[in-house]
Amino acid sequence: MQSSKMLGSCVGGGTLSAALPRRALKLQRLISPTSPLLPSHQFHPISRRLSACGSAGAQQQQQQQQHQHQQQSPNLVALEYADLNLNPTISEELGLGHGRIRQHVNPLKTSLSAPVEVPDWNQVFRDPTLPLMVDIGSGSGRFLLWLAKRNLVVRNYLGLEIRKKLVKRSQFWVQDLALSNIHFMFANATTSYQQLVSTYPGPLMLVSILCPDPYFKKRHHKRRVVQKPLVDSIVNSLMPSGQVFIQSDVLDVALDMRDQFDSHSNILTHIHEIDTSVLCDSEGWLLNNPMGIRTEREIHAEFEGAKIYRRVYQKQM
Ligand SMILES: C[S@@+](CC[C@H](N)C(=O)[O-])C[C@H]1O[C@@H](n2cnc3c(N)ncnc32)[C@H](O)[C@@H]1O
Repeated sequence: MQSSKMLGSCVGGGTLSAALPRRALKLQRLISPTSPLLPSHQFHPISRRLSACGSAGAQQQQQQQQHQHQQQSPNLVALEYADLNLNPTISEELGLGHGRIRQHVNPLKTSLSAPVEVPDWNQVFRDPTLPLMVDIGSGSGRFLLWLAKRNLVVRNYLGLEIRKKLVKRSQFWVQDLALSNIHFMFANATTSYQQLVSTYPGPLMLVSILCPDPYFKKRHHKRRVVQKPLVDSIVNSLMPSGQVFIQSDVLDVALDMRDQFDSHSNILTHIHEIDTSVLCDSEGWLLNNPMGIRTEREIHAEFEGAKIYRRVYQKQM
Protein backbone atom coordinates (compact mmCIF):
# COMPACT_ATOMS: atom_id res chain seq x y z
CA MET A 1 0.00 0.00 0.00
CA GLN A 2 1.22 3.51 -0.78
CA SER A 3 2.06 5.33 2.42
CA SER A 4 0.33 8.42 1.05
CA LYS A 5 -2.84 6.51 1.97
CA MET A 6 -1.69 5.74 5.47
CA LEU A 7 -2.88 8.61 7.63
CA GLY A 8 -6.02 8.55 9.73
CA SER A 9 -7.89 9.57 12.83
CA CYS A 10 -7.62 8.57 16.44
CA VAL A 11 -10.64 10.09 18.12
CA GLY A 12 -14.39 9.52 18.07
CA GLY A 13 -17.06 11.96 19.23
CA GLY A 14 -18.50 12.58 22.70
CA THR A 15 -16.71 13.20 25.97
CA LEU A 16 -13.19 11.88 26.24
CA SER A 17 -13.91 9.34 28.97
CA ALA A 18 -16.99 8.00 27.19
CA ALA A 19 -15.29 7.82 23.80
CA LEU A 20 -12.09 6.03 24.68
CA PRO A 21 -12.96 2.32 24.99
CA ARG A 22 -15.30 2.41 21.97
CA ARG A 23 -12.66 4.21 19.93
CA ALA A 24 -9.94 1.73 20.85
CA LEU A 25 -12.11 -1.13 19.62
CA LYS A 26 -13.03 0.69 16.43
CA LEU A 27 -9.41 1.51 15.63
CA GLN A 28 -8.36 -2.04 16.24
CA ARG A 29 -10.60 -3.02 13.34
CA LEU A 30 -9.53 -0.14 11.11
CA ILE A 31 -5.76 -0.30 11.29
CA SER A 32 -4.12 -1.67 8.18
CA PRO A 33 -1.91 -4.73 8.57
CA THR A 34 0.58 -3.52 5.98
CA SER A 35 1.05 0.18 6.73
CA PRO A 36 2.43 1.97 9.78
CA LEU A 37 -0.07 4.80 9.68
CA LEU A 38 -3.84 4.86 9.17
CA PRO A 39 -5.69 5.80 5.97
CA SER A 40 -6.46 9.51 5.77
CA HIS A 41 -10.24 9.14 5.61
CA GLN A 42 -10.26 8.03 9.24
CA PHE A 43 -9.35 11.48 10.53
CA HIS A 44 -11.49 13.05 13.23
CA PRO A 45 -10.53 16.24 15.06
CA ILE A 46 -10.31 16.68 18.84
CA SER A 47 -11.81 19.68 20.64
CA ARG A 48 -9.32 21.95 22.31
CA ARG A 49 -9.62 24.30 25.26
CA LEU A 50 -6.12 25.71 25.65
CA SER A 51 -3.24 26.50 23.37
CA ALA A 52 0.24 25.20 24.10
CA CYS A 53 1.81 28.35 22.61
CA GLY A 54 3.05 31.17 24.82
CA SER A 55 6.01 32.28 26.84
CA ALA A 56 8.40 29.83 28.46
CA GLY A 57 6.94 30.83 31.86
CA ALA A 58 3.40 30.12 30.72
CA GLN A 59 4.51 26.85 29.21
CA GLN A 60 6.18 25.82 32.45
CA GLN A 61 3.04 26.70 34.37
CA GLN A 62 1.02 24.68 31.91
CA GLN A 63 3.41 21.77 32.27
CA GLN A 64 3.00 21.86 36.05
CA GLN A 65 -0.78 21.89 35.67
CA GLN A 66 -0.54 18.96 33.31
CA HIS A 67 1.61 17.10 35.80
CA GLN A 68 -1.05 17.67 38.47
CA HIS A 69 -3.70 16.38 36.09
CA GLN A 70 -1.59 13.32 35.36
CA GLN A 71 -1.74 12.57 39.07
CA GLN A 72 -5.43 13.42 39.38
CA SER A 73 -6.59 11.48 36.34
CA PRO A 74 -4.41 8.39 35.88
CA ASN A 75 -7.34 6.46 34.46
CA LEU A 76 -7.13 8.23 31.11
CA VAL A 77 -4.08 6.24 30.06
CA ALA A 78 -5.46 3.01 31.47
CA LEU A 79 -8.65 3.54 29.48
CA GLU A 80 -6.84 4.25 26.23
CA TYR A 81 -4.78 1.09 26.61
CA ALA A 82 -7.38 -1.08 28.31
CA ASP A 83 -7.27 -3.79 25.67
CA LEU A 84 -3.54 -4.36 26.30
CA ASN A 85 -4.43 -5.67 29.76
CA LEU A 86 -1.03 -4.74 31.16
CA ASN A 87 0.04 -6.22 34.46
CA PRO A 88 -0.07 -3.28 36.95
CA THR A 89 1.96 -4.81 39.77
CA ILE A 90 5.30 -4.23 38.04
CA SER A 91 4.75 -0.46 38.24
CA GLU A 92 4.59 -0.53 42.04
CA GLU A 93 7.54 -2.91 42.22
CA LEU A 94 9.67 -0.48 40.22
CA GLY A 95 8.37 2.61 42.03
CA LEU A 96 6.52 3.81 38.94
CA GLY A 97 3.03 3.87 40.45
CA HIS A 98 0.56 6.71 39.98
CA GLY A 99 1.56 10.00 41.50
CA ARG A 100 5.28 9.24 41.63
CA ILE A 101 7.48 12.08 40.45
CA ARG A 102 9.32 11.18 37.27
CA GLN A 103 12.93 12.25 37.18
CA HIS A 104 14.34 13.70 34.00
CA VAL A 105 17.63 12.29 32.86
CA ASN A 106 20.28 14.61 31.45
CA PRO A 107 21.26 13.00 28.12
CA LEU A 108 24.53 14.94 28.09
CA LYS A 109 25.95 13.35 31.22
CA THR A 110 29.16 11.43 30.65
CA SER A 111 27.79 8.06 31.66
CA LEU A 112 25.31 8.27 28.76
CA SER A 113 27.78 9.36 26.11
CA ALA A 114 28.91 5.91 24.96
CA PRO A 115 26.73 4.06 22.43
CA VAL A 116 24.98 1.00 23.83
CA GLU A 117 25.99 -2.45 22.73
CA VAL A 118 24.17 -3.64 19.63
CA PRO A 119 22.02 -6.68 20.48
CA ASP A 120 21.89 -9.87 18.48
CA TRP A 121 18.83 -9.02 16.41
CA ASN A 122 18.07 -12.71 15.98
CA GLN A 123 17.66 -12.98 19.76
CA VAL A 124 15.59 -9.84 19.95
CA PHE A 125 13.06 -10.38 17.16
CA ARG A 126 11.49 -13.59 15.85
CA ASP A 127 12.11 -12.35 12.30
CA PRO A 128 14.73 -9.56 12.18
CA THR A 129 14.23 -9.02 8.45
CA LEU A 130 10.80 -7.43 8.92
CA PRO A 131 10.41 -3.68 8.36
CA LEU A 132 11.22 -1.76 11.53
CA MET A 133 9.61 1.14 13.36
CA VAL A 134 11.81 2.98 15.88
CA ASP A 135 10.25 5.16 18.58
CA ILE A 136 12.75 7.60 20.06
CA GLY A 137 11.94 8.43 23.70
CA SER A 138 9.40 5.63 24.01
CA GLY A 139 8.45 6.60 27.59
CA SER A 140 6.12 4.05 29.16
CA GLY A 141 6.20 1.93 25.99
CA ARG A 142 2.42 1.46 25.90
CA PHE A 143 2.12 3.19 22.53
CA LEU A 144 4.60 0.85 20.85
CA LEU A 145 3.20 -2.23 22.62
CA TRP A 146 -0.25 -1.39 21.28
CA LEU A 147 1.09 -1.17 17.73
CA ALA A 148 3.23 -4.30 18.03
CA LYS A 149 0.30 -6.37 19.24
CA ARG A 150 -1.67 -5.39 16.16
CA ASN A 151 1.08 -5.99 13.65
CA LEU A 152 2.57 -9.22 14.92
CA VAL A 153 3.86 -10.81 11.76
CA VAL A 154 4.41 -7.80 9.53
CA ARG A 155 6.60 -5.40 11.46
CA ASN A 156 9.14 -5.07 14.26
CA TYR A 157 9.19 -2.27 16.84
CA LEU A 158 12.16 -0.84 18.71
CA GLY A 159 11.74 1.63 21.57
CA LEU A 160 14.73 3.71 22.68
CA GLU A 161 14.39 5.23 26.13
CA ILE A 162 16.87 6.90 28.44
CA ARG A 163 15.04 6.13 31.70
CA LYS A 164 16.09 2.68 32.86
CA LYS A 165 13.06 1.84 34.98
CA LEU A 166 10.67 2.59 32.14
CA VAL A 167 12.62 0.23 29.89
CA LYS A 168 12.61 -2.45 32.55
CA ARG A 169 8.85 -2.21 32.90
CA SER A 170 8.29 -2.10 29.11
CA GLN A 171 10.39 -5.24 28.67
CA PHE A 172 8.47 -6.94 31.47
CA TRP A 173 5.26 -6.22 29.55
CA VAL A 174 6.82 -7.53 26.31
CA GLN A 175 7.54 -10.86 28.05
CA ASP A 176 4.17 -10.88 29.79
CA LEU A 177 2.33 -10.40 26.48
CA ALA A 178 4.69 -12.90 24.77
CA LEU A 179 5.38 -10.49 21.91
CA SER A 180 8.24 -11.43 19.60
CA ASN A 181 8.19 -8.34 17.37
CA ILE A 182 9.03 -5.63 19.89
CA HIS A 183 12.06 -4.68 21.96
CA PHE A 184 12.86 -1.79 24.29
CA MET A 185 16.40 -0.62 24.94
CA PHE A 186 17.88 1.55 27.61
CA ALA A 187 19.72 3.89 25.27
CA ASN A 188 20.56 7.50 24.70
CA ALA A 189 19.22 7.94 21.17
CA THR A 190 21.62 10.80 20.59
CA THR A 191 24.62 8.54 20.87
CA SER A 192 23.18 5.10 20.06
CA TYR A 193 20.65 5.51 17.26
CA GLN A 194 23.10 5.34 14.34
CA GLN A 195 24.87 2.18 15.42
CA LEU A 196 21.68 0.35 16.37
CA VAL A 197 19.76 1.12 13.23
CA SER A 198 22.67 0.57 10.84
CA THR A 199 23.09 -3.00 12.09
CA TYR A 200 19.41 -3.96 11.85
CA PRO A 201 19.03 -6.54 9.04
CA GLY A 202 15.68 -5.33 7.66
CA PRO A 203 14.51 -1.98 6.25
CA LEU A 204 13.68 1.00 8.47
CA MET A 205 10.18 2.10 7.55
CA LEU A 206 9.18 4.56 10.28
CA VAL A 207 10.86 6.67 12.94
CA SER A 208 8.75 8.53 15.51
CA ILE A 209 9.75 11.24 17.96
CA LEU A 210 6.64 12.01 19.95
CA CYS A 211 6.40 14.75 22.55
CA PRO A 212 10.13 14.83 23.29
CA ASP A 213 11.23 16.47 26.54
CA PRO A 214 10.96 20.22 25.87
CA TYR A 215 13.83 21.60 27.98
CA PHE A 216 12.30 25.07 28.03
CA LYS A 217 15.36 27.01 29.21
CA LYS A 218 17.49 28.16 26.30
CA ARG A 219 20.68 26.94 27.96
CA HIS A 220 19.12 23.48 28.11
CA HIS A 221 18.06 23.33 24.46
CA LYS A 222 21.20 21.33 23.75
CA ARG A 223 19.67 18.50 25.79
CA ARG A 224 16.77 18.16 23.35
CA VAL A 225 16.91 14.89 21.48
CA VAL A 226 16.24 16.38 18.04
CA GLN A 227 19.64 17.71 16.99
CA LYS A 228 21.16 17.88 13.51
CA PRO A 229 23.35 14.73 13.74
CA LEU A 230 20.37 12.60 14.81
CA VAL A 231 18.13 14.12 12.14
CA ASP A 232 20.77 13.48 9.44
CA SER A 233 21.16 9.95 10.69
CA ILE A 234 17.39 9.31 10.62
CA VAL A 235 17.06 10.67 7.09
CA ASN A 236 19.97 8.54 5.86
CA SER A 237 18.83 5.36 7.56
CA LEU A 238 15.20 5.40 6.33
CA MET A 239 14.29 3.09 3.47
CA PRO A 240 13.02 4.73 0.26
CA SER A 241 9.46 5.92 1.00
CA GLY A 242 10.13 5.43 4.73
CA GLN A 243 8.51 7.96 7.04
CA VAL A 244 9.24 10.19 10.03
CA PHE A 245 6.46 11.12 12.44
CA ILE A 246 7.14 14.00 14.84
CA GLN A 247 4.81 15.69 17.29
CA SER A 248 4.81 17.95 20.32
CA ASP A 249 2.31 19.82 22.45
CA VAL A 250 4.89 22.61 22.82
CA LEU A 251 4.94 24.89 19.79
CA ASP A 252 8.56 25.94 20.23
CA VAL A 253 9.68 22.30 20.28
CA ALA A 254 7.49 21.43 17.30
CA LEU A 255 8.88 24.35 15.30
CA ASP A 256 12.41 23.35 16.16
CA MET A 257 11.78 19.78 14.95
CA ARG A 258 9.93 20.99 11.86
CA ASP A 259 12.79 23.30 10.86
CA GLN A 260 15.29 20.47 11.20
CA PHE A 261 13.33 17.99 9.07
CA ASP A 262 12.22 20.68 6.59
CA SER A 263 15.90 21.37 5.94
CA HIS A 264 16.01 17.96 4.19
CA SER A 265 13.38 18.98 1.65
CA ASN A 266 15.60 17.63 -1.14
CA ILE A 267 14.87 14.13 0.11
CA LEU A 268 11.90 14.44 2.49
CA THR A 269 8.40 15.50 1.46
CA HIS A 270 5.63 16.37 3.88
CA ILE A 271 2.82 13.86 3.60
CA HIS A 272 0.09 16.31 2.62
CA GLU A 273 2.05 17.22 -0.50
CA ILE A 274 1.85 13.56 -1.50
CA ASP A 275 -1.73 12.95 -0.40
CA THR A 276 -3.93 16.04 -0.61
CA SER A 277 -6.67 14.32 1.38
CA VAL A 278 -4.46 14.52 4.48
CA LEU A 279 -5.83 17.43 6.48
CA CYS A 280 -3.51 20.12 7.83
CA ASP A 281 -4.10 23.52 9.36
CA SER A 282 -2.90 26.70 7.65
CA GLU A 283 0.56 26.26 9.22
CA GLY A 284 0.99 22.75 7.85
CA TRP A 285 0.36 20.82 11.08
CA LEU A 286 -1.58 17.59 10.68
CA LEU A 287 -5.03 17.93 12.18
CA ASN A 288 -5.08 14.42 13.59
CA ASN A 289 -3.07 11.58 14.96
CA PRO A 290 -2.12 9.22 12.12
CA MET A 291 -1.32 6.15 14.23
CA GLY A 292 -4.69 5.15 15.64
CA ILE A 293 -3.46 5.43 19.22
CA ARG A 294 -2.20 8.33 21.28
CA THR A 295 0.96 8.40 23.35
CA GLU A 296 0.77 8.87 27.09
CA ARG A 297 1.98 12.45 26.92
CA GLU A 298 -0.47 13.18 24.11
CA ILE A 299 -3.38 11.87 26.18
CA HIS A 300 -2.56 14.16 29.10
CA ALA A 301 -1.89 17.17 26.87
CA GLU A 302 -5.17 16.77 25.02
CA PHE A 303 -7.01 16.30 28.31
CA GLU A 304 -5.67 19.75 29.18
CA GLY A 305 -6.98 21.04 25.85
CA ALA A 306 -3.53 21.55 24.35
CA LYS A 307 -3.00 21.42 20.62
CA ILE A 308 -0.71 18.71 19.31
CA TYR A 309 1.59 19.86 16.51
CA ARG A 310 2.28 16.99 14.12
CA ARG A 311 4.22 16.43 10.91
CA VAL A 312 4.80 13.29 8.86
CA TYR A 313 7.56 13.24 6.27
CA GLN A 314 8.19 10.69 3.58
CA LYS A 315 11.56 9.92 2.04
CA GLN A 316 11.77 9.89 -1.72
CA MET A 317 11.80 6.58 -3.54
C1 LIG B 1 7.89 13.69 27.44
S1 LIG B 1 8.35 12.01 27.33
C2 LIG B 1 7.31 11.42 25.99
C3 LIG B 1 7.21 9.95 26.00
C4 LIG B 1 6.33 9.40 24.89
N1 LIG B 1 6.97 9.57 23.59
C5 LIG B 1 5.00 10.08 24.93
O1 LIG B 1 4.69 10.85 23.99
O2 LIG B 1 4.25 9.82 25.90
C6 LIG B 1 9.95 12.03 26.53
C7 LIG B 1 10.70 10.75 26.73
O3 LIG B 1 11.91 10.79 26.01
C8 LIG B 1 12.93 10.23 26.82
N2 LIG B 1 14.21 10.78 26.33
C9 LIG B 1 14.67 12.04 26.48
N3 LIG B 1 15.87 12.18 25.90
C10 LIG B 1 16.19 10.97 25.36
C11 LIG B 1 17.30 10.47 24.64
N4 LIG B 1 18.36 11.26 24.34
N5 LIG B 1 17.29 9.17 24.24
C12 LIG B 1 16.24 8.37 24.55
N6 LIG B 1 15.16 8.79 25.23
C13 LIG B 1 15.13 10.06 25.64
C14 LIG B 1 12.56 10.65 28.22
O4 LIG B 1 13.16 9.87 29.22
C15 LIG B 1 11.05 10.51 28.17
O5 LIG B 1 10.62 9.22 28.55
